[in-house]
Amino acid sequence: MARRKTLRDIRALYEEEKAITMVTAYDYTFARLVEAAELDVILVGDSLGNVIQGHDTTVPVEVDDVIYHTRAVMRGCQTPHVVADLSFMSYQASDDEGMRNAGRLLKEGGAQAVKLEGGEAYAPLVRRLTEAGVPVVGHLGLTPQSVHAFGGYRVQGRDDEAAKRLLSDAFALQDAGAYMVVLEMVPAALAAEVTEKLSIPTIGIGAGAQTSGQVLVIQDLLGMNESFKPRFVKRFANLEAICVDALKTYGEEVRERTFPDEDHSY
Ligand code: KIV
Repeated sequence: MARRKTLRDIRALYEEEKAITMVTAYDYTFARLVEAAELDVILVGDSLGNVIQGHDTTVPVEVDDVIYHTRAVMRGCQTPHVVADLSFMSYQASDDEGMRNAGRLLKEGGAQAVKLEGGEAYAPLVRRLTEAGVPVVGHLGLTPQSVHAFGGYRVQGRDDEAAKRLLSDAFALQDAGAYMVVLEMVPAALAAEVTEKLSIPTIGIGAGAQTSGQVLVIQDLLGMNESFKPRFVKRFANLEAICVDALKTYGEEVRERTFPDEDHSY
């Protein structure tokens, strides 16, 4: 019988020095595809604000949105480990609120773990969550919920001071009990150093090849939006063109009344 991967399976991959494969998904259909591709981890990311809801940032996403999408993902797969994002202002205002909202992602969404953005400042919350039985994934570097504070989406940790801060934030998360850390848009050499020094896995996105694993937004890697192409995204398919072609053909056949034909009629 199919068994869902747990944080122990992720730990085993790390100890065996096997790369951890993570991708976002937000619904039943895509969760099925991720499962069929035998990837290790699904992240129900708050990037759903961009790729599902059409916002410019992840700021408007609510915990209820993440719960809704996590439930759909859980119905679509039995084996990947599933992590859900704590959305903006669902944990920043107080640790108590963070505890309650993380609990909702597990209880109502069915996620196995939560991810939150930020370092040392959130270590007390990470510790409380971990002690309460909520596995936590950290997220450092370009943390999209802080886009307005960063003044845009740009590479983080470029100078010595920022690099030192990122490393100490990573240690703070690890010491507080985080079992994995996402490193987003940081120089490859810094990501390699953090990965080398930590004793928990790192997952990179725009962080070079030396992290313990990689994550990408599923719509990006499948090439579903030709107008969005940051340097760190590799398109492994070009689904936008394939989908548009199929939809055009459907439109033509409906207009010409060649669909439905006998094979597709009762
Ligand atoms: O929300 C998200 O999809 C993420 C990944 C890009 C790491 O946080």
